Parts: sequence; C-alpha cells; structure tokens
Amino acid sequence: MTRPYLQMTQEELKQEYAAVCAAYENAKSKNLKLNMARGKPGREQLDGVSDILTVLSDAADCFDDGLDVRNYGELMGVPAARRYFAELLGVRPEQTFIGGSASLQLMFDTISKAYTHGLLHSEKPWSKLERVKFLCPSPGYDRHFKITETFGAEMIVIPMTAEGPDMDMVEKYIQDPDVRGMWCVPKYSNPGGVIYSDATVRRIAAMKPAAKDFLLMWDNAYCVHEFDGDFVPFEDILSLCAAAGNPDMPFEFASTSKITLPGSGISVMAASEANLAYMQKLLTVQIISFDKVNQLRHVRYLKDKAHTLEIMKRHAAVLKPRFEAVLYALDTNIAPLDIAKWNRPKGGYFVSVDAMSGTAKRTLALCKEAGVTMTGAGATFPYGKDPQDSNIRIAPSFPPIEELRDAMEVFCLCLRMAALERCMNA
Ligand SMILES: Cc1ncc(COP(=O)(O)O)c(C=O)c1O
Repeated sequence: MTRPYLQMTQEELKQEYAAVCAAYENAKSKNLKLNMARGKPGREQLDGVSDILTVLSDAADCFDDGLDVRNYGELMGVPAARRYFAELLGVRPEQTFIGGSASLQLMFDTISKAYTHGLLHSEKPWSKLERVKFLCPSPGYDRHFKITETFGAEMIVIPMTAEGPDMDMVEKYIQDPDVRGMWCVPKYSNPGGVIYSDATVRRIAAMKPAAKDFLLMWDNAYCVHEFDGDFVPFEDILSLCAAAGNPDMPFEFASTSKITLPGSGISVMAASEANLAYMQKLLTVQIISFDKVNQLRHVRYLKDKAHTLEIMKRHAAVLKPRFEAVLYALDTNIAPLDIAKWNRPKGGYFVSVDAMSGTAKRTLALCKEAGVTMTGAGATFPYGKDPQDSNIRIAPSFPPIEELRDAMEVFCLCLRMAALERCMNA
C-alpha cells in the first residue's frame, strides 16, 4: 500500500503495520551490524589520499624557506600553511593561525579562553559573568553544542531555514547582553546541508549585539566539500564583518579532516590580526608550536586551492553514489507515504531527515534493535533535546555502499513502523 498514512483508515493502518512488522522481523533475523552514525570518510576515500604519508621522506624535505619544521618555533604555523589556508578561505595569511589535527580543539580552546581569560573585548572572563547565553542554530552539530554545554552556557535554539539561521530571531536575541555568541556552519551545515544565503551572511556580519565581546563561531568545516557539481564560492566573513564595523567578532575555523586524513590533518583559525595577537599571548603559554612537520606535509601534498579542489573531486566520486543510495531509498520507500521530509544536499556529509513529529526516538530505537546504529535522536539539538522528536541525521560516507543500502532498507522500515504506531494511536 503506497499512499499517505494520514489518509488511511484504521483498518488499512493495521494491515500495513502487520506487513511492515513482518519485513522488520525478517531484517532483524539477519543479525545486521551496520553503522550510519558518524560523518567519517570511508576506507576508499582514505586510501585515495594515503600517498600523503610518504610526502616528507627524509630530513632534506623538512625545510621550507629556510625554516626547519622539525624544530620548535613558528607558533602561528608554517608560513606556507598560513598562505595555503588563507587562499582556501579568502583571507590574508596574517589572519590565520594553524593548529593541530582538529579544528574542534581550536573551537573548544577559543570558548575555553573566553571563560578563563576573556576575549579581546571582554570586560571580564565569562566564568565571572552571572549568565552566558549562546545562540545555537538547530538542527546543528552536536559537538558544538557539547562545547558550550560543558562550560555551562545557556543554549538558545534558533530554527534553521533554507537560507540559514532565522535572522529575525537572532537579531532579537542579540539585544540581550547575556547573549555572548553564536555557532554557525555557513556551508553545507551539519546536518541540514544548508548554504547560508548571501543576505543571511550579510545580516550576520552586520549584527549589532549588545555584548561587546560577542563571539561569532564561524565553522567553515565544509568549505570545499562539494560532492555534486563544482565548487561553490563563499564570502570572506572576516572582510564582511570588518566592513560592517565588527572586525573582531568572527573566528573562522576549518581543517583538512575531510580532505586528507581525519585525526591526522591540520586545522586553521582565522580572525582579525588584533584577535590573533591577543590569542597568541595566551597560546604562547600553552604550547611552543603545533606539529609543523604535518603542516608542511599537507602544504606539499595539497599544494593550493586548485589542487585541493581536484582532490575533492576524487572524494566526490566516492561520496555521490552513497548520497544517491540514501535518497533513492527515501524517495521510493518513504516519499509516497508522506511521513517525513529530507534535504537533497550537494556537499557536506549528511542527509537530515525530519520524521513525523514524535517518532524520531522510536525510529532509532527500532534501528538499534535491528543492528543499525545511527546518530542518537535529539543529538542535533542543544542538550540533546529535539522539541519535536523529529530530526534524524544520516551519515552515508563510512559504510561500504552495499551495507549502506541494507541499512537504509532497515531505516525506512523503522520510520514506517514508528509512523504507523503514531497514526494508530492518534
Ligand atoms: C561542522 C563540523 N565542524 C567540525 C567537525 C570536526 O572537524 P575537525 O576534525 O577539524 O575537528 C565536523 C565533523 O564532523 C563538523 O561536522
């Protein structure tokens, strides 16, 4: 029976439920062990870039412009790596700081410093403030929310639209001086795959928050991560903010995690020179220099933006069929039933499904029972609480494609079972 569940009679729903349950029990009996939980590159992608491992093979390779990258020094990063990321992000090399293997560490560290020492324009460290509130466009990236949660910030859900965060709401909230910052993933947002529109980006850059030290966390994690079609250019948030009179508001982040090897890549934090000079003073106490051997290895391997985009085409060739498999399963099994909506991203790492409200947790519990692991329900909202119990994040990159198809079959059955239970009890 393929027609919208909400149009079915109770008798039809019962029949459909019996059929779906039988198919589910059959899937369960296969003792599957499939995982669509985290946005990790698959084996084929890692193999495709593993020639990076032999890029620096002896001591003579470890010099760049007279700099011996094997030694201490150059806290801000190997100059060639700063130039590389500056080109990728459209900023100036002096506005970059090159970090270790994870941009998440730089993000955590920025917030951490805001709490312990304060930011450039803070009157006092945030830990001394009575209240800190943070805007969280949702659905969003669970690890962002965990960072602000761990420091005790009060997180405020800002709904995501097709153009980015709901800016009317943002502009209202930033009038509150306790609102100290905002998370943003401007390109291929996690999980919705949304590219913020130019108008949204400009409105963000021109915000006039009551808090002088308002921190715009601009996580450009998917800045060159198209898997379908050509590179989509984006605006330089640092210039836009500077032009709007907010030069020190944004901190932009990116990394090579999904360009080369996640966990063994390099990361960048881009900000105004004034911000970086302030941060440098604190960072000097913390570390003598990050892994410059790896920074140089990456520059030699990735070369420049044009070559990086060629490498991204190789990733795209592996990723695109996986996203197509996910969409095919949803389009054929779910669309006619009208029980969920989903996005059709052209880049990034996720498909975001909005199930019938009140059914996400049940769907994922059923998946788990049948051996399919997915990102937990609610994870895409602050405090892990999705007010609608609706959003589900699918990460298609890691499993081999045959397994992904099997996992999607099970997922669709679970979505249907949960929706039917909801309709029958309505
Ligand atoms: C939006 C976003 N930011 C950051 C990361 C992690 O980046 P990194 O490996 O550089 O810490 C991810 C990984 O999934 C992500 O989706």
